[in-house]
Amino acid sequence: MASGWRGRDVISILDFTRGELEELFLEADKVKMALRRGGLQRRPLEGKLVALAFFEPSTRTRMSFEAAAKRLGAGTIGFTGPEGTSVEKGENLADTIRMLDAYADLIVIRHRYEGSALYAAEIAEAPVVNGGDGRQHHPTQAMIDLYTVREAHGRVEGLDYAVVGDLRYGRAAASFMLALTIFRPRRLYLVYPPQLAPRREVVSALERAGVRFERAELEEVIGEVDVLYVTRIQRERFPDPEEYERVRGSYRVTASMLEGARDSLVVLHPLPRVDEIDHSVDSTRHAWYFRQARNGVPVRMALLKLILGG
Ligand code: CP
Repeated sequence: MASGWRGRDVISILDFTRGELEELFLEADKVKMALRRGGLQRRPLEGKLVALAFFEPSTRTRMSFEAAAKRLGAGTIGFTGPEGTSVEKGENLADTIRMLDAYADLIVIRHRYEGSALYAAEIAEAPVVNGGDGRQHHPTQAMIDLYTVREAHGRVEGLDYAVVGDLRYGRAAASFMLALTIFRPRRLYLVYPPQLAPRREVVSALERAGVRFERAELEEVIGEVDVLYVTRIQRERFPDPEEYERVRGSYRVTASMLEGARDSLVVLHPLPRVDEIDHSVDSTRHAWYFRQARNGVPVRMALLKLILGG
């Protein structure tokens, strides 16, 4: 396959064209079908090693990358949290990255500092995949989100979307909004408390791409959209705990609120959730967030396969 993916860093969803993302989705389709049949017949990444450098907590991103690597035949090394690494003795990020670069064929990094993945990519010769850098980017989450929308609706472009919640500190929400500059929505509603407005760079990207977006209230848009993308308020990123207390619990999607929704509505959430989607939603036909999380494995398998060239 003549692919522009081989050896690529994955820092921002905006690093990729629509064509490249569609290539990823086709690969993920093939992987998903093979997984349904019991697994891949070949181990295309046999002998490769993937480093998982998670300086921040994670369930889905770390474990689905680990599952993806292992299902492709690759091994994994790494850590979750700097405890037990020489970061505790004062080793800096650059030297830690140099070590991972020496030991592995690809590095997945999650770090609380914005720009950390780009910094790692400048140091490492191995491809670097951003597993979340502070509040800035979470590109592989956006790939999974787009793939799930495509699975639900057969397309990503031309749909009506609402993105709900912490649009200021949430990196998954930011990457999803940026992704919608590549696959343009028909309409995009942004639902957020005033303190959690989207950041200037995201608003500018939407404007530059000509995306039609407007601020709205949750109750107003539920009946108007095909995709409701709900996010958690990112307590850990607030500089002031009192500011968090002021917005805590300010929105909550319940099953009864979805009664007037379009049949086509899918509710997505990058997870983890706290209380922004009531558990009553889980048993409705609109709840797609666990399927979305399950798509983490085939999409990340496809990504590793394309980058490492199995
Ligand atoms: N969606 C997501 O990034 O989840 P984790 O924080 O559990 O990796």
